[in-house]
Amino acid sequence: MSVSLDTNKLKNYINGKWVEVKETTSVFNPANGKKIVQVPLSNRESVNAAVSAAKNAQKEWALVPAPQRAQFLYRVGHLLEERKEHLSKLLTMENGKVIEEARGEVQEGIDMAFYMAGEGRRMFGQTTPAELKSKFAMSQRVPVGVVGIITPWNFPIAIATWKSFPAIVAGNAVVWKPASETPIMAYELAKIFEEAGLPKGVINVVFGSGATVGNAMVHHDDIRVISFTGSNDVGRNIAADCGRQLKKVSLEMGGKNAVIVMDDADLDLAVEGILWSAYGTSGQRCTACSRVIVHEAVKEQLEKKLLVKMKELTIGNGLDENIKVGPIINQAGMNKIKDYIEIGKKEGARLVEGGYELSGSGFEGGFFFAPTLFTDAKPDMRIAQEEIFGPVVSLIPVQSLEEAIEVNNGVSFGLSSSIFTQDVNRVFQAQRDLDTGIVYVNAGTTGAEIHLPFGGTKGTGNGHRDSGVQALDVFTEWKAVYVDYSGKLQRAQIDVD
Ligand code: UN1
Repeated sequence: MSVSLDTNKLKNYINGKWVEVKETTSVFNPANGKKIVQVPLSNRESVNAAVSAAKNAQKEWALVPAPQRAQFLYRVGHLLEERKEHLSKLLTMENGKVIEEARGEVQEGIDMAFYMAGEGRRMFGQTTPAELKSKFAMSQRVPVGVVGIITPWNFPIAIATWKSFPAIVAGNAVVWKPASETPIMAYELAKIFEEAGLPKGVINVVFGSGATVGNAMVHHDDIRVISFTGSNDVGRNIAADCGRQLKKVSLEMGGKNAVIVMDDADLDLAVEGILWSAYGTSGQRCTACSRVIVHEAVKEQLEKKLLVKMKELTIGNGLDENIKVGPIINQAGMNKIKDYIEIGKKEGARLVEGGYELSGSGFEGGFFFAPTLFTDAKPDMRIAQEEIFGPVVSLIPVQSLEEAIEVNNGVSFGLSSSIFTQDVNRVFQAQRDLDTGIVYVNAGTTGAEIHLPFGGTKGTGNGHRDSGVQALDVFTEWKAVYVDYSGKLQRAQIDVD
């Protein structure tokens, strides 16, 4: 299965033009270390150019009726659909995730296009009775202006669509900095926007580092919203910088997600759910399961079944349809995972499977890590508290549902959680008491659909949500409008008789 890119040097996309940047860096395939393409390392001037193009374009764009703005998204959706297979292969090549998951991710972008296009005909405001006679009261969503989006490498196309599509349909113009590890999805999506006929300047792509491009976006006066998905440290700094400027900021910064397995669970199903959500995307999802909180009555049994299935996981280049677990994104990701293996051992958790980097035939030049299981972990161990972003799971035994929920909630993150049980009472108790933004019942911790809000509580973010109708809250302001048709001055709260 081969895939090729139509260029060996990517360009920025600014004001409807492809702009070459002198300084570049190389992008590598994480499955074999081969160089794929050169990507720009843009400077502050590129950001300034993109923002001024966006600012100009946005004035006109805001005046295009929303149902017409939506027409562009329908076209984008159809083009994504036509190119799904090609895009999926490119995605596997730059990110490493296995081809089946890559197809799923592209599908998420297609779904988002059609869903957000539909918002062009909804985007509901409110009408409400006015306090005074012959007076009309309503509220409507209005665009914010120029918005900055900063997207991660682990879902380089899906997350970009979660942010750019609502921004565009709501009448904003976008400056987008994609992750440097995965610029190809951004290049392909920009080409699709261009082919769909989106007016120049409505979307602008500036490749480069967070320190230069991201930082320039965060500090640019004309960017009024920053929507960021990425690491905790970076997100917190962005929030602090935006706070000082009274700039709206939406953050999604990961999780320490748990699958709870109760003593009445279908254990084979639970194992499937754990495998898929823990080792899929090699654990490099914000929603990845990295803790299994298991009732002690079924702990031994679950562990045995899990170990059998873990050994069956095939690891390698994700372009091969038979592979279930692909590579880690890069050396830094690999180093972090290895560090946590040592931390886990020192903390006294029992390593029962994996824990090592794979080398030799089939793994040359790539970053492959064996699916890993620690057991008898304690809830307060670092491996059970901190995000590892790799195929590493800690199994924590508990004695009751209440204890399971307490352990689940006892971390600084709050993205996703899951419970396997057959008991309807436990289901509802858990969905009430689990403190995460997403809760699954009898499924793993991954699998969010785009029409519901995506995001979490506590250290996962700052209260905003990607996708769902809630995404519009990030990219719109509310305007309250009062129309007095009485022909006389009516003073609110005073002339009420
Ligand atoms: C992420 O982990 O950053 O629910 C996004 C899921 C996917 C999206 C994950 N639909 O796992």
